[in-house]
Amino acid sequence: MLTASHLGFRYAGTPVLHDVNLRAEPASMLAVTGPNGCGKSTLLHLLAGVLKPAEGLVERPPGTRIALLPQRTGDIDALPLTVAECVRIGRFGGGLLRRLTRADKAVVTEIMERLDIAHLGRRRLRELSGGQRQRTLIAQAFAQDAEVYILDEPTAALDVSSRARVHELLTERVRDGASIVMASHDDEETALAGRTLRLSSVSSSAA
Ligand SMILES: Nc1ncnc2c1ncn2[C@@H]1O[C@H](COP(=O)(O)OP(=O)(O)O)[C@@H](O)[C@H]1O
Ligand SMILES: [Mg+2]
Repeated sequence: MLTASHLGFRYAGTPVLHDVNLRAEPASMLAVTGPNGCGKSTLLHLLAGVLKPAEGLVERPPGTRIALLPQRTGDIDALPLTVAECVRIGRFGGGLLRRLTRADKAVVTEIMERLDIAHLGRRRLRELSGGQRQRTLIAQAFAQDAEVYILDEPTAALDVSSRARVHELLTERVRDGASIVMASHDDEETALAGRTLRLSSVSSSAA
């Protein structure tokens, strides 16, 4: 579904990743782990195509639908969006001018209920707690009909019950055939994944 071969990256000459190899398979979850600053977020951005590799190759079959949940969301917070609008954006895969169908609206309602943000629909993003904002962004990612979900520490700011809800959604998506690549620090969470890619500081890694 998505393959990375011999990936390398550097910021202004400072090497971050070197010779990273992985395959994201359908109906499976890959956890990316490693200490702060080892390059997890950078790797996920390379996989999603937000950054271009300095070395190696990311192969995505043309038309592959990819959803990215970034770790840093300051740009999104700055927009005057409500929670409901933010989640609805997840359904605009076909273009922003498309009208949402009844089926799209049902997906949005369901995912907001499952992440316990339905009651926050009219609030602005910047009026939310960290966990509420995170659940909104997770809802936006899961509202997408993606084949590959690239999630950067999705549950880092969440309480136990919200985390359990997210884990349930992850498990369901995998069962339905999706591929998930997820950065995580949480052992319980990485145990959900079939495979783990452990990054260390600028050394070769494969999964
Ligand atoms: N935009 C950037 N410019 C320069 N250095 C960066 C930038 N983003 C991240 N880095 C550096 O690259 C390294 C990897 O960062 P990151 O991929 O965010 O790691 P992780 O997600 O594993 O904590 C860190 O040393 C970080 O300081
Ligand atoms: Mg990170």
